[in-house]
Amino acid sequence: MKIVTPESTQFKVVDAPYYAESGSEVGIFEAAWKQKVPVLLKGPTGCGKTRFVSYMAHKLNLPLITVSCHEDLSASDLIGRYVIQNDEVLWSDGPMTAAVRMGAILYLDEVVEARKDTIVAIHPLSDHRRSLLIDKLATVLEAPDNFLLVISYNPGYQSLLKELKPSTRQRFASIAFDYPTEETECEILITETGVNSDIASKLASLATRIRKLTHRGLEEGASTRLLLHTARLIQGGVSIADATNATLVETLSDDPEMQNALRDLIDDFFGL
Ligand SMILES: Nc1ncnc2c1ncn2[C@@H]1O[C@H](COP(=O)(O)OP(=O)(O)O)[C@@H](O)[C@H]1O
Ligand SMILES: [Mg+2]
Repeated sequence: MKIVTPESTQFKVVDAPYYAESGSEVGIFEAAWKQKVPVLLKGPTGCGKTRFVSYMAHKLNLPLITVSCHEDLSASDLIGRYVIQNDEVLWSDGPMTAAVRMGAILYLDEVVEARKDTIVAIHPLSDHRRSLLIDKLATVLEAPDNFLLVISYNPGYQSLLKELKPSTRQRFASIAFDYPTEETECEILITETGVNSDIASKLASLATRIRKLTHRGLEEGASTRLLLHTARLIQGGVSIADATNATLVETLSDDPEMQNALRDLIDDFFGL
C-alpha cells in the first residue's frame, strides 16, 4: 500500500516569531516537551496562544502541524483515509498521523469544538503509550521522542456541552494564558504595528478598562489581536475615532447601550 504523507519541511517555522513572554511559560513548555508531557494552553481568544506555539516550535526546531478543531472534524480527518488516484488505492495520512511520523508538535486549536469521539482519538497519544492506532491500516505508530501533543481551549466559552472531560484534561500539563500586562501589550502593539508609544499605551490601558466590562454584559474583553487591528487601522491613516469604533465598539458589541458606554470610555481616553 502506497502511503502519502507530507514532507516535514513544509511545517518548519522558518522565521523566528516575535513573542513577548509573560511568565515562565517558555521554560515549562520546553521541560514538558523534553519529558514528553502533553500541554494544554488555556485562555481567552487572541491572547497569544497560537503565537506562543509557533515561537516554541521555532525555538525547539520542531515542525508544527496545526489543526483548527470544529464539530465536523472526525477521527478519520485527523488520522487519514484511503484515496483513489489514477485507479490506484493509496493511504493519505491525516495531520495527526503525519505529526507522529515526523516527530512534530501537533497543535489542536480550540479542541472543545471537536466531537467527543474525535477527542477520544487523541487519548492513546496523550498517555504513557504515546502511540497512534490506525485501525484501517491495522498499524500502531509509536510517537518518536520529538513528538509533542498541544491542545488549546478557551474557558470563557465554557458551556455544559462544550467542556473538556476530566479524562481528557488530566492527561495534560496546563499553561494558563491571559491578556498581557499593559506594559507588555504596549510593547507588542509597537513591535507588531509600528504605532507610536503614546497611542500604544493609551490603547493598552483602554483595553484594561474594557476587559473589566466583561462583568457588566460584555461577552469577552478586547483581545490583543483586536487592539492590533485598531493600531493597524490608525497606522493606515484612519482617525482614532473611526479606528476604535470599527475595531472595538462594533466588533465587541451589537448592543446600543454597551456601544455607547464603550464610546464614552474611548472619548475619555483619547480626549475626543
Ligand atoms: N505575548 C505575545 N507576544 C507577541 N505577540 C502577541 C502576544 N500575545 C498576542 N500577540 C499578538 O496577538 C495576535 C493574536 O494572538 P494569537 O496567538 O493568535 O491568539 P490566540 O491563539 O490566543 O487566540 C498574534 O498574532 C500576535 O500578533
Ligand atoms: Mg489561536
